[in-house]
Amino acid sequence: MSLLSPEWTAILYLIAAVCFILALKGLNSPRTARRGNLIGAAGALLAVVTVFLSSRLENIPLILAAIAVGSAIAAPIARRVQMTQMPQLVALFNGVGGGAAALVAVLELGHNADTWVRVAVVFTMLVGAVSFSGSAVTVAKLQELITTRPVIFPGMRWVMSAVLIAALVVGGFVIATGSAGWAIALLLLGLAAGLLLVLPVGGADVPIVISLLNAFTGLAVAASGIVLGNLLLVVAGTLVGASGTILTRAMASAMGRGVSGIMFGAFRGGSTAGSTAQSDRPVRSSGPEDVAVLLAYAQRVVIVPGYGLAVAQGQHTIAELATTLAARGVEVDFAIHPVAGRMPGHMNVLLAEANVPYESLKEMAEVNPEFKHADVALVVGANDVVNPAAKSSPGSPIYGMPILEVGQARQVIFLKRSMRPGFAGIENELLYDPKTSLLFGDAKDSLTKVLGAVNAL
Ligand code: TAP
Repeated sequence: MSLLSPEWTAILYLIAAVCFILALKGLNSPRTARRGNLIGAAGALLAVVTVFLSSRLENIPLILAAIAVGSAIAAPIARRVQMTQMPQLVALFNGVGGGAAALVAVLELGHNADTWVRVAVVFTMLVGAVSFSGSAVTVAKLQELITTRPVIFPGMRWVMSAVLIAALVVGGFVIATGSAGWAIALLLLGLAAGLLLVLPVGGADVPIVISLLNAFTGLAVAASGIVLGNLLLVVAGTLVGASGTILTRAMASAMGRGVSGIMFGAFRGGSTAGSTAQSDRPVRSSGPEDVAVLLAYAQRVVIVPGYGLAVAQGQHTIAELATTLAARGVEVDFAIHPVAGRMPGHMNVLLAEANVPYESLKEMAEVNPEFKHADVALVVGANDVVNPAAKSSPGSPIYGMPILEVGQARQVIFLKRSMRPGFAGIENELLYDPKTSLLFGDAKDSLTKVLGAVNAL
């Protein structure tokens, strides 16, 4: 016998659904994101408890054991993960969610002969399996367990088409017969489709695919809600599907690319994985004291943080440098490119950690017209997001991506360790510009030295 009446169950599910919507709203801004996350987690906990109280579950000890094992694995990983590895973690959890939805659907197949429910079962299995194997490939690529370049082989398009057609045919058999054998064949085809879909994606596009697969998992979970007759799963899955789709489009447009170009660009030779060639042309390098003088006597400084700042963990030092300069009367802003770093909002999160006020963070559209009034653009561990090749070289892998126009500032200073290129693997002409100087070294070390030199002035 269940402990909760259907009415109470519906009310508790409704509260959980409202929590999920408030969570998404909270995640809209770095100010409220932490609270949004907690509200979402509270909604998920309420939903799980409601399932226990409202359903006649069999095998409760086994279910609790599975929850305990899952939590024991996931919690330490989530606590220990580096900020720069967050996209892999999200991809891993997302893929496991898709895989779980697919397995639940297989198990439900034996219990339900309704045609429409079987259609939902087939959809859940196929999309869940694609999400599982596709996410596994993104994790392997971002963790550099396999090459980050697009993997394509001759005839790949045809193999992909054959797998998709076979999946549709086999899906039809599953609906018609409800046979476990056909269901397993469908799962295998879904896994193959996930691999074939994501292997050709390379370079900077992988995080966008993670977001797309996140949307797929949402849809698979929503369909599994139909299979299980659980309205909350339908609501939660639809929210994930819709928000994942919006995020995918936003990220793609921030990089000046279409979603289909990202998924199938490698077949047309348009992926963002470039070469890692470096030239040995001369550049102007500076010492920390020179940089300190330029910054301390400037009226306006725009700081452009990038992935290297996160690697160096220099956020506290850069925040201190900005405060020190502001105390000397210098107007200091941070210019935030939407894909700087390795995950959406990476720079916002990094700088928030160092308590940089949100008002100092300027988005690309807002800050770009400001560069021409800036005395110094200080580029710290950023490269692709300021690379003019995105505007001037039609053949370049990042061509079309909007960039921060640092070249318009009177002086440009790059803090980086070497002449190595950034994520897209292409040279940055701005490094050779006569108004550019480079301070070589780890960003945190360099910032510490510059800060010391500013204080000594
Ligand atoms: P990148 O173009 O990757 O450049 C990073 C720069 O940091 C490099 O020039 C590197 O040069 C330097 N660097 C690395 N470690 C450093 C350290 N410890 N100290 C000082 N410098 C260091 O970064 P970006 O400009 O932020 O652009 C982001 C790129 O990643 C874009 O191509 C974007 O499309 C891609 N991407 C973005 C995302 C999202 S959603 N944000 C996700 C995945 C990929 P040295 O090695 O010479 O030091």
